[in-house]
Amino acid sequence: MASFGNAFSSSIGKKLIMGITGLFLILFLIVHCFINALIFFNDGGLTFNIGAHFMASNWLIRAGEIVLFVGLIAHIVQGARLTFQNQAARPVKYAVTNGKANSKWYSRSMGLLGTLLLIFLIVHLSNFWVVSRFTGIPTVDANGHEDLYAVMKETFKELWIVVLYTLAMISLAYHLLHGFASAFQTLGWNHKKYSPIIKALGVWYSIIIALLFAAMPIAMYAGIIN
Ligand code: HEM
Repeated sequence: MASFGNAFSSSIGKKLIMGITGLFLILFLIVHCFINALIFFNDGGLTFNIGAHFMASNWLIRAGEIVLFVGLIAHIVQGARLTFQNQAARPVKYAVTNGKANSKWYSRSMGLLGTLLLIFLIVHLSNFWVVSRFTGIPTVDANGHEDLYAVMKETFKELWIVVLYTLAMISLAYHLLHGFASAFQTLGWNHKKYSPIIKALGVWYSIIIALLFAAMPIAMYAGIIN
């Protein structure tokens, strides 16, 4: 009889983990994007710093951060294993790859898009998370809150970082475009009436989240928000 461990290292088990952690990350990105979008108040970061302060001081959110990192690592590890497993299943490529007929290019490139996102994440966490949790935010704003907004402004003065973030957000859009509908499908939430609605919701979600995120470094670099 297959053990519990075996069930999760099977192909279906890996996809289940991808689906569950993926849905959790989809929810995280909504909250993360919404809090960050407070910079568009263009009030020198006062509103954004209130949001960031709330996130940093709320114990429930801090506990959620542990779940977030465990989920993120599980998602990355299982994603890499699935990609290698799919490649190993067909070491000799098809003579004619009529991929277009079967799936979208970004569905077949989840590994590549995910790798680009991984590079982004390493740079991103060292830009902000390491500063806010470990090395310390050097200044406070007019309300006496730690000025994470000033760290953002400083970070997005660098053109290569703005370019990296923008490219990563294009990858994120495609990654989400596949991932959103795929997560629901893997978890077996298939319904004649609701599946097309979920698919449309996924398209809107992917485009809005990626556009909003990409607008942040670009608007700061261009001086549209100060
Ligand atoms: C380009 C837009 C983005 C900006 C400006 C941004 C900004 C930030 C900031 C300021 C923090 C530190 C928050 C704090 O310590 O209170 C942070 C943390 C984090 N970001 Fe982003 N972020 C962006 C996009 C993303 C994306 C697309 C992902 C995931 C794919 C992501 C994943 C994370 C994670 C995992 C953390 C650490 C956990 C946390 O502090 O909540 N970020 N980000």
